[in-house]
Amino acid sequence: MITIRPMTIEDYDEVFAMWQITSKRALSSADEREQIARYLERNKGLSQVAVSDGKIIGTVLAGHDGRRGFIHHMAVLPEYRRRHIGHALAEKAIENIRAEGIEKTHIFCYRDNEAGQKFWSDLGFVRRDDIFDFSL
Ligand SMILES: CC(C)(COP(=O)(O)OP(=O)(O)OC[C@H]1O[C@@H](n2cnc3c(N)ncnc32)[C@H](O)[C@@H]1OP(=O)(O)O)[C@@H](O)C(=O)NCCC(=O)NCCS
Repeated sequence: MITIRPMTIEDYDEVFAMWQITSKRALSSADEREQIARYLERNKGLSQVAVSDGKIIGTVLAGHDGRRGFIHHMAVLPEYRRRHIGHALAEKAIENIRAEGIEKTHIFCYRDNEAGQKFWSDLGFVRRDDIFDFSL
């Protein structure tokens, strides 16, 4: 059975190992233990993991800045994909963000990540071609 529950910092080692498989390109210093601990503390109860037989097989980081929601590291281990586990994780994350009074949620997706784009479109997210993302 697969369960979805809030992520805690105790999950960090397993989650980080999973991200080495699913999300390597998106990893940065923001994913070090201390930063993730701060993120989880700041966005209490919003990020989720999917667990099968005690093993973490999916993640979603969810938070907001008081105005807009943001989702990061939406990921499912390859052998568990296309079973709507990603869907369930994303829906829970969005529900949690909405419960905090935030209506709109943004995600970042690499332009060449076609599966990612299909995944978000399937969930009803609309791709924005009218804006650039500027980072510092
Ligand atoms: C994207 C990802 C999280 C999807 O997880 P998942 O559990 O397989 O997704 P779901 O089973 O919930 O898929 C829901 C729907 O999304 C779409 N979708 C998901 N993966 C797809 C793929 N590889 N190709 C085409 N459509 C896809 C489909 O419409 C699918 O519905 P269907 O299976 O009934 O056709 C997973 O592929 C992953 O971890 N990829 C690597 C990390 C990544 O790119 N994350 C997204 C960053 S923007």
